[in-house]
Amino acid sequence: MKVAIAADHGGYEQKAHLVERLAGAGHEVMDFGPMGADAVDYPDYALKVARAVSSGEAARGILICGTGLGMAMAADKFPGVRAAAVQTPEFATLCRQHNDANVLCLSGRFVEPTVNEELCRIFLETPFEGGRHAKRVAKMMACGQAMAMDRLMVMDHPLVAHKLSILRDEATPTKLFRELVQELALFVGYEATRDFPLEDVEVTTPLETFTAKRVAGKKVAIVPILRAGLGMVDGLLALVPSAKVGHIGMYRDHETHEPREYYAKLPADVDQRTCLVVDPMLATGGSASMAIGYLRKAGVDDVRLLCLVAAPEGVERVLSEDPDVRIYACALDRELNDDAYILPGLGDAGDRIFGTL
Ligand code: PRP
Ligand code: URA
Repeated sequence: MKVAIAADHGGYEQKAHLVERLAGAGHEVMDFGPMGADAVDYPDYALKVARAVSSGEAARGILICGTGLGMAMAADKFPGVRAAAVQTPEFATLCRQHNDANVLCLSGRFVEPTVNEELCRIFLETPFEGGRHAKRVAKMMACGQAMAMDRLMVMDHPLVAHKLSILRDEATPTKLFRELVQELALFVGYEATRDFPLEDVEVTTPLETFTAKRVAGKKVAIVPILRAGLGMVDGLLALVPSAKVGHIGMYRDHETHEPREYYAKLPADVDQRTCLVVDPMLATGGSASMAIGYLRKAGVDDVRLLCLVAAPEGVERVLSEDPDVRIYACALDRELNDDAYILPGLGDAGDRIFGTL
């Protein structure tokens, strides 16, 4: 097997030993250094191995630093890389069987060379089990990939985290829930419009005339998915007051969890606009995908999906069904339950906004 290996000063000695053993076991070893014991920055070496694995140049990677932890964190930033920091044979086995890890990160300071040698052997020889683990690994990779490619943006702001926690609380009453949905819509809208182009405009202040900026480019249409999407509209209109509002009505079939469309009314010039599709919940992704497909058929080329809580399953479906859409979410939650509700989620957004629980 083609194996890429690198270390920092905390793993340099063990690397030399492992290179010898791996070559002796018949592997083709790509040694990315360092070739001396001087202090180096571990991310520089982690990224060499991660790049080789990510591009397919190497089938697996091995990294050694003092603990293995920094190497794992750095390598994991690369698309397609699943790096595991491992110190025991059981973890070496499981990171392959369950997680399909392709980069092994070892501790040069706290683990003996003979143990690390055994961890490498297990890591290189143990196959991925697939089955239920394949679905989980695919989800993990889809979200990581989407973020790396700027197709999924998850808000990282203390006020968003704070407001979202109140929103999720089952004790939050309807009035407050509604207000928080509007406020969070404004935050996520702020992020979703960050790349709007600007043009120069002459402005005369009370003191002088100068060249200022104003938003140029396409006009905006806000397209809520009924019902729950309606709860986000005012927040977005506060941000883009001149936007037109189209509506797409859908509900999820309780048995199949697939969406049923019951209403659609879009601005006549929707194909000339940037469309912000809004819905607080992205669960299976069925409703959002159908709404986005509807807009594509109407000729819209810039579609952005804004939600408050997204599930990995929904992100994967929307992005795989539409190669150009971008998703903006306040949070990416863990998973769906058997009723296709998001966990931990916030329950039924429509019912909580409109008080129909
Ligand atoms: C909810 C939510 C989304 C949809 C998400 O609407 O507001 O539109 O479910 O689920 P999906 O990603 O699996 O399609 P619901 O069908 O409950 O209708 P409502 O907005 O009228 O309450
Ligand atoms: N729709 C909701 O309102 N909540 C969920 O968790 C899933 C779909």
